[in-house]
Amino acid sequence: MSEGATKKEDKPRKFQAIRGTRDLLPPETALWNGVEQTAHEVFATFGFAEIRLPIFESTDLFARSIGAETDVVSKEMYTFGGFAEFSAKVREGRMVGTLEEIAPEEMISLRPEATASVCRAYIEHGMHALPQPVKLYYMGPMFRRERPQKGRYRQFYQIGAEILGGPDAPAIDAEVIEMLMTFFERLGLQGVRLDINSIGDKNCRPKYVELLRAELLKVKNKLGADSQRRIETNPLRVLDSKLESEQAIIEKLPRIADHLCQDCATHYATVKRQLELRGVVYRENWRLVRGLDYYMRTTFEITAAGLGSQNAVCGGGRYDGLVELLGGSPTKGIGFAIGEDRLILSLQESGKAAPLQGRDVYIAWMGEKAYATAIRAAKDLRATGFSVELPPIKQKFGKALGQADRLGARYALILGDNEVSEGLWTLKTLADGSQQKLTEPDLLEFLREQKPVSS
Ligand code: HAM
Repeated sequence: MSEGATKKEDKPRKFQAIRGTRDLLPPETALWNGVEQTAHEVFATFGFAEIRLPIFESTDLFARSIGAETDVVSKEMYTFGGFAEFSAKVREGRMVGTLEEIAPEEMISLRPEATASVCRAYIEHGMHALPQPVKLYYMGPMFRRERPQKGRYRQFYQIGAEILGGPDAPAIDAEVIEMLMTFFERLGLQGVRLDINSIGDKNCRPKYVELLRAELLKVKNKLGADSQRRIETNPLRVLDSKLESEQAIIEKLPRIADHLCQDCATHYATVKRQLELRGVVYRENWRLVRGLDYYMRTTFEITAAGLGSQNAVCGGGRYDGLVELLGGSPTKGIGFAIGEDRLILSLQESGKAAPLQGRDVYIAWMGEKAYATAIRAAKDLRATGFSVELPPIKQKFGKALGQADRLGARYALILGDNEVSEGLWTLKTLADGSQQKLTEPDLLEFLREQKPVSS
């Protein structure tokens, strides 16, 4: 091989985003920002404040809260053991056994969800001493090692809210759902459907689960492998099954609504009445059990248009025992998390594209004297909220206007040495090509009367 030729292995590697992760690019990011801004605004009107949480936590926090047997914890977490003692165990081949046995406090996981973290923070910061209930919301990336497909990613984003403390009044359940519907309505989300259910509490659910298990055992050999396994681990999850061949069997199974204890039945009936009072339309879905262990009583899920099989944009429910399970005092809890990726997908499918992020003003400057003026004009206009493009190097007039067009600018401010010495600046409206000559103050005044695109 001649000198200077590149050997094949010398070629720089082309990197790509890891499977299940993706870059969010402009202009789509403007839609993301708009959605997040709307969440900040709507949630604030319901008295919620933002909490920012760590991206990773003790593995045990998630195992205890979500449940060690759940798909999320048993199969989907990104878990690391980064500490010396842990590494020593691995080296000595002692890293065998269950999560509990491997000193779980030494293992950390990327968060698959944030409810567990909010509860941990509530306890850690003594938030029970604040006026109750405490209403918190969060947004950010979550991580689950699922099989990627449309609407399902390994790094995905949630916008969630939690209400901790205070009573378990059904009005709280209804208000949190009302807030969600208000948020979706503000965004113009299409085909929104709210499903609700009650899955009982520790008094009535265990009896129902045993009944369900007994009934499932009778039809065991008609069920698929997943459901057969779940008869033992978590019979409720069988109700979740989408397998065509199981649907007729599931329809005949006993329904939890017929097995709620008096307190749960009353709670559920009042939640429904409270939703009606608020004009929230819902559908009862007795098969809605949710995949995380901490839920009790109210559960809900929202689906939207244009999402195919991964059509749940939001899931939530009540989890009264969770704070106690994590070492806090008995505390009521309810909340939800929206899948932001899916929400955005649905908005896009129904034609809600990201707003075009064109510039307001492109400053086509020519000549050194004009450049100093151009810098000052850019500063003034930006201070008023306009998006301004100031080319960093000298350009020919035609090229500058072409570039202004490509950037979707509304105006080109033409500044040559002549304009500067005459004190009359030229403003070209790019949509119709019209031009006007104005003094600096008049031009700035004229532009200020126009609304910046970014506002
Ligand atoms: P979840 O149902 O596991 O609940 O997730 C909530 C939402 O996050 C789902 O409805 C879906 O829109 C989105 N999501 C979940 N996994 C993925 C994925 N791999 N790719 C894209 N989107 C996904 C929770 O996480 C609970 N913490 C909700 C909650 C809060 N319950 C009470 N408080």
